[in-house]
Amino acid sequence: MTTNVIEVNNLEHKYNDLKAVDDISFTVKKGEIFSFLGPNGAGKSTVINVLTTLRKIQKGEAKVNGYNVAKESKEVRRSIGIVFQMMCIDYEMTVFENLEYHGKIYSMPKNERRNRINELIKLTELEAKRNTLAKDLSGGMKRRLELARGLMTKPAVLFLDEPTVGFDIQTRMRIWEYLRKIKREGTTIFLTTHYMEEADQLSDRISIIDHGKIIATGSVLDLKNQLGEDLIYLETSDNKAAAGVLKTLESVKGVNEDTKFLRVMLEGDVTHILPKIMDKVRQNGIEITTVNIKKPSMDDVFIHYTGHGLRGEELEEQHENIKIAEVLK
Ligand SMILES: Nc1ncnc2c1ncn2[C@@H]1O[C@H](COP(=O)(O)OP(=O)(O)O)[C@@H](O)[C@H]1O
Ligand SMILES: [Mg+2]
Repeated sequence: MTTNVIEVNNLEHKYNDLKAVDDISFTVKKGEIFSFLGPNGAGKSTVINVLTTLRKIQKGEAKVNGYNVAKESKEVRRSIGIVFQMMCIDYEMTVFENLEYHGKIYSMPKNERRNRINELIKLTELEAKRNTLAKDLSGGMKRRLELARGLMTKPAVLFLDEPTVGFDIQTRMRIWEYLRKIKREGTTIFLTTHYMEEADQLSDRISIIDHGKIIATGSVLDLKNQLGEDLIYLETSDNKAAAGVLKTLESVKGVNEDTKFLRVMLEGDVTHILPKIMDKVRQNGIEITTVNIKKPSMDDVFIHYTGHGLRGEELEEQHENIKIAEVLK
């Protein structure tokens, strides 16, 4: 029997007149990594805050570990672990002391505590800073300590709100590996992210969330398969006109216009359809400058369901993070 560790029905949350979460329902099964993938402002943190009882539930129903978040908040809190965007570390303690203290609060036996601390300090690359006061760490290091602290205990359900924001890709990949490991050891993980790659690499299942609504849910493979086996990327002299023409073809399931490319979804085998597509475009006096065939990625899935890519600000932020990561090295 599969047990649902998280069950959410018709959750709604408003800030004054703004509906930040709009009639959301989903379940997370025991032992899976489930991700909310969505842009900034989509409502991810609001959902996670309600599930972890940091925000009072307004409308709908939510259960975590079988406990009702409205009526059994204490039991919910006792059965979960949380890694948040906000800082919970103590600045007047060293890296080691912060982790040691957290382990003690959760009554971890000394041996287990020490082993976990060593493992996590290594994971977050803080070995050289073991005895440094938290207040003397750089911003990125503080974030990594925050994550290490959240991972100290191995709860039945772990909530992670954008756990790797601002980390460089190597650190991020190591953290993904670690999360997979604790999943194998039996922890159920609910995480939010706006990184396509993170959702793709980690998740058993994903819900794509935009403007407070879930617009698609499925395994990474299912979501990608919805877009067909292959996608054709075309660059033409007139993408808008080409899109209009291609939409009339039976073997074309859908066309997205990006600023630069046309992304063409197919009904059937690319090797047969590609020549037809090229003929059709050229017959209409449109020049084709480049053609690419590729397997659908999480970006494609995201654009397909939301009708847009990441917004400018997030792309900028990702650039910003790369810059920060470079400085930190
Ligand atoms: N405390 C708050 N007061 C007013 N509006 C808020 C508050 N927290 C979040 N919002 C708004 O609710 C929406 C969803 O926010 P949030 O849940 O933080 O999204 P995400 O985590 O996906 O970025 C956004 O439009 C945000 O500006
Ligand atoms: Mg958030």
